[in-house]
Amino acid sequence: MVIGASGQIGVELTLALRKIYGASNVIASDLREENPLLHGTGPYVSIDVMNKEMLHVQVIRQGVTQIYLLAAILSATGEKNPNLAWHLNMQGLLNVLDIAREEKLSKVYWPSSIAVFGPTSPKKNCPQQTIIEPTTVYGISKYAGEFWCNYFFNKYAVDVRSLRYPGLISYKSAPGGGTTDYAIEIFHDALEHKHYDCFLEKDTYLPMMYMPDAIRATIELMEAPSEKITTRTSYNIAAMSFSPQEIAIEIKKHIPGFAIDYAPDYRQTIANSWPQSIDDSVARKDWGWKPEFDLAAMTEDMLKNLRK
Ligand SMILES: NC(=O)c1ccc[n+]([C@@H]2O[C@H](COP(=O)([O-])OP(=O)(O)OC[C@H]3O[C@@H](n4cnc5c(N)ncnc54)[C@H](O)[C@@H]3O)[C@@H](O)[C@H]2O)c1
Repeated sequence: MVIGASGQIGVELTLALRKIYGASNVIASDLREENPLLHGTGPYVSIDVMNKEMLHVQVIRQGVTQIYLLAAILSATGEKNPNLAWHLNMQGLLNVLDIAREEKLSKVYWPSSIAVFGPTSPKKNCPQQTIIEPTTVYGISKYAGEFWCNYFFNKYAVDVRSLRYPGLISYKSAPGGGTTDYAIEIFHDALEHKHYDCFLEKDTYLPMMYMPDAIRATIELMEAPSEKITTRTSYNIAAMSFSPQEIAIEIKKHIPGFAIDYAPDYRQTIANSWPQSIDDSVARKDWGWKPEFDLAAMTEDMLKNLRK
């Protein structure tokens, strides 16, 4: 069961899991209506992850063995409504972990984020274990969530696994209100208007990843033998790191007249609190993680698919 299946990651993860495990074996669920990209591709149930009883009934009724929990409030939206972000991001996770324990589910996946890191973490090649003092409500909720995952693994043997995703770039479904959303909007505006107003400064470097790499990382982590998973909080993973200026230069190679202006807003403060790049050597060593897409390959693929 994928909870939050209509979102940016959920749609692509659901489609990928259906390819591997068979359409009828992957239940998509979300609070909002089924994403049109999922129509006719497999079962869909309407679920509010905050309603534990309803979720529990569905888990039993549908014979669920694994849950991928993607429902969350993201970084930028979270700063506008801190209470809601904390409530959904924590209670949603606790509901799923409790049900996983009671129903002895075989595995749970829950994503964390580079947002766990704060201004006191190393900016470059930020390690797996380091100073972690998040300053956004989103980051606080993700860091607390990591320790709940670790707790349920140690105390109740719930096989829960997690990745600290960087900013994810994709063309299929729209982003959900994160600080790295600029790196998606820029492609749409480049193709439609040959111009983009960026909400971050030109030299703001952030860790990023193309969606196909993120989906593959998720599935590879979930399919890795349990004994290879040494980190039960959440794994650092990385693919590329670039600034708005660098992605604009890359896009210009394909759209020569493209221009970018910079008008930083409240999201600049969030971006400034995060590392510029991530050290993912533990994930590489434990379960063989390796990214495929760099900035050039991702830009080419994004433009090709958006033009379609
Ligand atoms: N997209 C990124 O760049 C990124 C980076 C780091 C971590 N993540 C994490 O990955 C996960 C998925 O992110 P996303 O970008 O797909 O987010 P998204 O906002 O696009 O999708 C989240 C989905 O959850 C659903 N949802 C919200 N409240 C719900 C509820 N009460 N019950 C059921 N469903 C509910 C929403 O309707 C939405 O479809 C989140 O945990 C997010 O923090 C994302």
